[in-house]
Amino acid sequence: MQPLRVGVIGAGTVGREVVRAFLERSPRLAPADGRPLVLTGVAEKFTERAIAHGIPAELLTDAPAHLIASGECDVIVETMGGDEPAHTLVAAALGAGLAVVTANKHIVAHHGPELEALARGTDSTLRFEAAVGGGIPLLGPIAQDLAGDRIARVRGILNGTTNYMLTAMARDGRDYADVLREAQAKGYAEADPTADVEGLDAVNKLVILARLAFGVWIPPDAVSNCPGSTSGRPGAPGITGVTAADVAALAAEGRAVRLIATTRLAEDGAIEASVVPTAVPAGSAFGRCDGVLNRVEVDAEPVGRVAFEGPGAGGAAAGAAVLSDLVSIARGLGSTWAGAVRAEASSAGVVVRPVAGECVAAPSGACYPVGD
Ligand code: HSE
Repeated sequence: MQPLRVGVIGAGTVGREVVRAFLERSPRLAPADGRPLVLTGVAEKFTERAIAHGIPAELLTDAPAHLIASGECDVIVETMGGDEPAHTLVAAALGAGLAVVTANKHIVAHHGPELEALARGTDSTLRFEAAVGGGIPLLGPIAQDLAGDRIARVRGILNGTTNYMLTAMARDGRDYADVLREAQAKGYAEADPTADVEGLDAVNKLVILARLAFGVWIPPDAVSNCPGSTSGRPGAPGITGVTAADVAALAAEGRAVRLIATTRLAEDGAIEASVVPTAVPAGSAFGRCDGVLNRVEVDAEPVGRVAFEGPGAGGAAAGAAVLSDLVSIARGLGSTWAGAVRAEASSAGVVVRPVAGECVAAPSGACYPVGD
């Protein structure tokens, strides 16, 4: 059987893990019912650093566009992150009919309609399991295994960095800046952690979940990421306004603060979507979901509630999800959305509003929604 030739663009925290799996010649990269996978090139801006991390110089180039156009790759793995040049490079690969596996939640959430139309137009495959929930098999089960169900709500802890921070602040009474530095050192946070702490990384992931659950691309900037406040004005975004005093006061009431992302299909067809710090019972499944773990619950008919939990960030977790997508492509499976309802190329006109519900006031003046 002809091997499937893989080019990796971006050899940072996640890309390095993918390359390492190839260098170790994992037998898992030759599925029994599919084509064997081989690594043909790695594009990385910082080639010296990549060599220092054990990537052979003969595989390396600093020109990702050339690797895509070289004719030596059937599949491109995009692990660069960020908007440009990742967006243009992925679009070029799909436009050329190559399959793409990406861990980049930003480009999938912000350019989803365009990338979906492009992939459908050239009949190419786009898979992005690593973009949501790190190493948790999540998007495949939602798009395929729950394809016969009507999904009503998806909610979860979707950002490992902030969950790690909230856990450390509550358990050890540690300082916000100190635990953020630790999450960065462990490879959980984005290069610029603003998107993590302001909830925008989780917003991107929620947009992707809504696409698979409800068949619409909602604009990321329509998703609320600020809690309410006692002043009536929106509170600080994401967890940036969560203080040690808030965490302690809520803990005294038996509650834990978790950054919960929720999307729901309302009776009138609108999509409700929010990513806000939420006061959940400390003993609940979300309250016990600690550290870098993510947890996602899907409410659907007729199955009821199903839950997914596991490592949500870090090179090993996201790398595992990329490898699983590569094996799926080697086995001839289609795009991540293949089993889900087809989205319109543009979901313009979809009404998006915040999730409403009961709130509890905290010492900082923030009003956190009450979760269960
Ligand atoms: N920065 C992200 C997080 C990485 O902390 O969850 C995984 O997407």
